[in-house]
Amino acid sequence: MEHRARSRSSRLAVPAAAAAALLALTTACTGGTVQGRPGASGLRDPYFPKAGNGGYQVEHYALDLDYEPAGNRLRGRAVITARAEQGLSSFNLDLSGLRVDAVTVRGEAARYNRAGNELTVRPAEDLKKGEVFRTEVAYSGRPKTFTDPDGSKEGWITTPVGAGSAGGAGGEAGAVGVGEPVGSMTWFPGNHHPSDKAAYDITLTVPDGYEAVSNGALRSRTPAGAGRTAFAWHSPEPMASYLATAVIGKYRVTTGRTPSGVALYNAVTPDEAAGSAGVLARLPEMVEWGSGRFGPYPFGTAGAVVLPAGTLAYALETQTKPVFPGAPGTEELLLHELAHQWFGNSVSPESWKDMWLNEGFATYAEWLWTEEHDGPTAQEEFAAFLEGDTEVDENADSDWDAFPPAAPPGPEDISGNPVYYRGAMVLHRVRQEVGDEKFFALLRGWAAEHRHGNASTADFTAYAEKTTGHDLKDVWDVWLYGKDHPAAPAPR
Ligand code: TRP
Ligand code: ZN
Repeated sequence: MEHRARSRSSRLAVPAAAAAALLALTTACTGGTVQGRPGASGLRDPYFPKAGNGGYQVEHYALDLDYEPAGNRLRGRAVITARAEQGLSSFNLDLSGLRVDAVTVRGEAARYNRAGNELTVRPAEDLKKGEVFRTEVAYSGRPKTFTDPDGSKEGWITTPVGAGSAGGAGGEAGAVGVGEPVGSMTWFPGNHHPSDKAAYDITLTVPDGYEAVSNGALRSRTPAGAGRTAFAWHSPEPMASYLATAVIGKYRVTTGRTPSGVALYNAVTPDEAAGSAGVLARLPEMVEWGSGRFGPYPFGTAGAVVLPAGTLAYALETQTKPVFPGAPGTEELLLHELAHQWFGNSVSPESWKDMWLNEGFATYAEWLWTEEHDGPTAQEEFAAFLEGDTEVDENADSDWDAFPPAAPPGPEDISGNPVYYRGAMVLHRVRQEVGDEKFFALLRGWAAEHRHGNASTADFTAYAEKTTGHDLKDVWDVWLYGKDHPAAPAPR
């Protein structure tokens, strides 16, 4: 990595005597035991270079978040269990805003420093390569909403209490924490890049009468004293931090099970209950349908959270429990967020450049769903985009061809239309080339090959060619990487 190269060349530039003196000094400082060096402050993601940190991988986050809706006050404790990938004299966590009250590493007080969104932690003693260590960060304050390069809001967002809810108006509010691509750093310290996935236990303590919802399964709901209740949520499968969520407010909760036994948990803001019921009723069937098309559902739980309308400008595929800003208006939207559980959440992007592996696949899943239900077919969707036929898809006329899906021009483009629609068209072109049988085997194989892992665009193109036995170079050149408006493929 960059850091290694830099330290090597700087050492070469230091005269031998000075180097020896420096080394002696370093040895003295560390007691002559371990030779750690700082972990990188970013992973050099092509779009968000400071997101994430080098030198360690997180295995588990235990987040205890105590939230007071009146005043938007959060008190947090994060216990982060990680494995050192190098000797570490210091390492970074990403954290935006909030106040750090104390940091310990291996149970010992650690020094720390804040600069921008970087929290640098210096343990009392260096960490050894391969060592599994626990860092505990106590923090507090009013978490902030974060504005992305494309202008969308994420991070911590306060929500009104709906008129039809039990809480009534005035002062009382709820909140939602979301994090695509980098907003999770506004509500917990971590290694906030999708390449570092970990298990989570998130406990939310809120005033009695509030619901608190997070990823995975609700393990317990216990009185916490002083008129408060603690909701303990458990997510054993690896999760990228941008998929973590915390939802606090007055919600109507319903639980159930899919026919094959996946536990369901829906939380719906009362004002949207009537409008959501019809679409949400399809969720069990959709989980089964997805399992048939893409392979076994990757998580132990599924569900949905319907936030007060207007809370967000988009739905988000938060792991096991996507959030919707008001009632999901269409089956396809619910299906899209469900499809991300395979594509994006289980198979996660290696970097933010690989977003089409999330959005192109989730969009194509919508096309497959409509193809097998009341239409249109994927071929009709594909043709609608090429022809600008907005009767088939209202997005067909927008800037779906503004840039190649695998090469968004900048960080403001990673959720742009081409990532979704041209991304889906790449998959349709592959299907046209290899035929249905190989294509559906490819979708299932891809989900299985990288289940609970990460993958890049290059991984996908190589995998598709290897498993189908087709040379797909022209598809990649024109549809995935090509800057020009793609021409309709020749009839075959
Ligand atoms: N990833 C979300 C989805 O497709 C949508 C989304 C999240 C989004 N953040 C965004 C769209 C910012 C536009 C801008 O389900
Ligand atoms: Zn999506």
